[in-house]
Amino acid sequence: MQVRISDDALAIACGADRVAQRFTELGHAVVRTSSWGMHWLEPLVELDGIGYGPVGPGDVDAIMAGTADHLRIGAIADHPFLASQTRLTFARAGRTRPLSLEDYADTGGWLGLHTAREIGGEAIVDMLKASGLRGRGGAGFPAGIKWDTVRLARGHRKYIVCNADEGDSGTFADRMLMEGDPFCLIEGMAIAGLAVGAGKGFVYIRSEYPHAIAKMRAAALLAAPLIAPFEIEIRVGAGAYVCGEETSLLNSLEGKRGEVRAKPPLPAIEGLFGCPTVVNNVLTLAAVPFVLAEGAQAYAEYGMGRSRGTMPIQLAGNIRYGGLYETAFGVTLGQLVNDIGGGTASGRPVRAVQVGGPLGAYFPPALFDTPFDYEAFTAVDGLIGHGGITVFDDSVDMAAQARFAFEFCAIESCGKCTPCRIGAVRGKETIDKLISGDSVASNLALVSDLCETMKFGSLCALGGFTPYPVMSAITHFPEDFGPERQAAE
Ligand code: NAI
Ligand code: SF4
Repeated sequence: MQVRISDDALAIACGADRVAQRFTELGHAVVRTSSWGMHWLEPLVELDGIGYGPVGPGDVDAIMAGTADHLRIGAIADHPFLASQTRLTFARAGRTRPLSLEDYADTGGWLGLHTAREIGGEAIVDMLKASGLRGRGGAGFPAGIKWDTVRLARGHRKYIVCNADEGDSGTFADRMLMEGDPFCLIEGMAIAGLAVGAGKGFVYIRSEYPHAIAKMRAAALLAAPLIAPFEIEIRVGAGAYVCGEETSLLNSLEGKRGEVRAKPPLPAIEGLFGCPTVVNNVLTLAAVPFVLAEGAQAYAEYGMGRSRGTMPIQLAGNIRYGGLYETAFGVTLGQLVNDIGGGTASGRPVRAVQVGGPLGAYFPPALFDTPFDYEAFTAVDGLIGHGGITVFDDSVDMAAQARFAFEFCAIESCGKCTPCRIGAVRGKETIDKLISGDSVASNLALVSDLCETMKFGSLCALGGFTPYPVMSAITHFPEDFGPERQAAE
């Protein structure tokens, strides 16, 4: 009998280690795997292919005695949450041991790198362009064009930098990938190195991810002979949200203060230590081995419009079935929240959904027919960002959420430019006045003016995107800001 339990940080936080220990005490060998991404079922136990969850240490005896039908979910891979997904980047999730080179190779690992070595830099970049893969960190810039810029740039050295700073609240796909399938990211970085002529790569991981840091360090050591002469070094951030912005990340990597650099020059031309540098998110690099192994067309056939392939979407907040849902672009917001996510965990009606992290817009159910696609979200003044969806029920106070956006920006601002440094503080003060019912019309106009200045005058996305949550809250939920609010209070 084989007992499989994830060693992902979320599973551990839910008690997976204690459950594994109980099985061991009863004399059963436990295999620690990656997570399937069904968070509401963690700790999820797999016994000969049959899943049980969420399992506590006290349930183990009942499972072994065959009296835990209330926890039994049947064959895990057939669960509707998984069966309806298209897992290209997360194909190994739940199925392999994260640090097993044997499991990785048995599931198609290194095939992409093998192809890359055969075809060389220009052909690799051509494949990436043909796949339509766009940057998954948020901006959606075509990865093939970025790689081509670095490939053609002059430089005595070139670098690959993986942005694993994943600072958006409600996102966890980078973490899951690094903890569950670290060799996939390493393979993607080695392919990028071949494509652009870089000999070294850095993975910049936020310090709040100790499990991911440990897994990536161990995986980089194990994979070193397989990716040589390419080298990978793991670096740990120090907890600043703005270090997820690529130029402040580069400053931090260089040992400087994590402050945003003006662009141009683009990092692709003058990046780390002044050298041409590919800066890509974890999910972008982890999508690359599939493209090289299966072909550009196999990736490009999924999706809609200019958004090709799949997006690992993270369902979080007040949602019944939270977790990782990888699917082709084109699924609607309503399908994600209601059909797949099952609505709110509290059982109350969904009132708002924030898409794209703390800088993303709030959507009311009236916009739930918006397809998950870069351009479609831009058209409704939103962004898909890193693919995080945070759900709120009808108890949410949208004025408080707008205040939070300004407050977040004020705390995390690097201070380099005035619209963000001063604007965020003034914005918070003005929302406070609105909440207290002070001169509502003129303060609303002031917030709108402030947001306009921040959107067009800020140096980076932190100040430039804070207006999204603020203005979407005011536009879609005006009753939380106007005289109705005071009447209700
Ligand atoms: P951007 O639009 O300035 O640039 C996107 C990327 O394309 C950058 O890497 C840039 O260097 C590159 N690029 C642009 N033109 C290029 C060219 N001609 N050749 C080669 N490369 C080129 O966007 P930015 O400011 O880097 O990122 C903003 C995004 O970050 C937002 O959409 C936001 O959603 C996202 N974000 C993600 C977070 C996360 O935790 N993943 C946190 C905060 C923001
Ligand atoms: Fe720094 Fe904010 Fe300006 Fe970005 S927008 S450079 S975080 S002050």
